[in-house]
Amino acid sequence: MASGSATEVATTSDLSGGRLTVAAPYVIAQDWNAYTPEQHAVWQELVGRRMPQLREHACDEYLEGFELIGLQEDRLPNLAVVSARLSPRTGWSSTPVSGFLPADAFFEMLAARMFPTTTWLRARESMDYTPEPDIFHDVFGHVPMHADPVFADFLEHYGKVCASVIDRPEALERLGRLFWFTVEFGVIRQRGEIKVYGSGLISSHGECTRVLAGGCEIKDFNLEAVLNQEMQTSEMQPVLYAVESFEEIYEAAQAAESMVG
Ligand SMILES: [Fe+2]
Repeated sequence: MASGSATEVATTSDLSGGRLTVAAPYVIAQDWNAYTPEQHAVWQELVGRRMPQLREHACDEYLEGFELIGLQEDRLPNLAVVSARLSPRTGWSSTPVSGFLPADAFFEMLAARMFPTTTWLRARESMDYTPEPDIFHDVFGHVPMHADPVFADFLEHYGKVCASVIDRPEALERLGRLFWFTVEFGVIRQRGEIKVYGSGLISSHGECTRVLAGGCEIKDFNLEAVLNQEMQTSEMQPVLYAVESFEEIYEAAQAAESMVG
């Protein structure tokens, strides 16, 4: 089986374009033709349910990114097509991976502007919640924001900062909170209103509705507070942090480098 392993390594290395080391074995090809009509129908229902609220309450950058990367409401995204539209704009790609990545592989991909993207889709019975991210969370929830140049720079820099402290669990835990309260559950003030940009809010109808209805305390973004704020990974968020612009989180990633140092 040695030759099989060698072939596999060569293939995964090719798929990452030779730009990855620790993450290379996790990169796969997306078999878009294998998605069933039922899976496309589930995607359509998920998108159809989220868009009316998001057209009103998602931030401008998310909605612009959604158009730019060419997401379709009636079929699952082909990641090669998404990346071909996204890369010329910010250098990011939506790169298919086999599943959960260890921290070093995850941060290596962010630092290379390659967003690790799962290819499986939740079943109809789990429409409201999946414990693990799927393609709906990853592409619909995350990828449109990567078309914004400032957010794109922030996320790459965040990956580099985390990669630089990969052997320091305490620093990584604090930096994980910055990711949680921005990339996953971030909100921004635009034209005097709270708008959502975090993928956990974009992709979750229940949690987003609760936040927009005032069911969660919203504080002004403050890096030190965020780095010290415990995360609720299995319950609804009691507190979120609103930025005034995406420059604020870009600067936070720069400042975090020295604060966890
Ligand atoms: Fe996420």
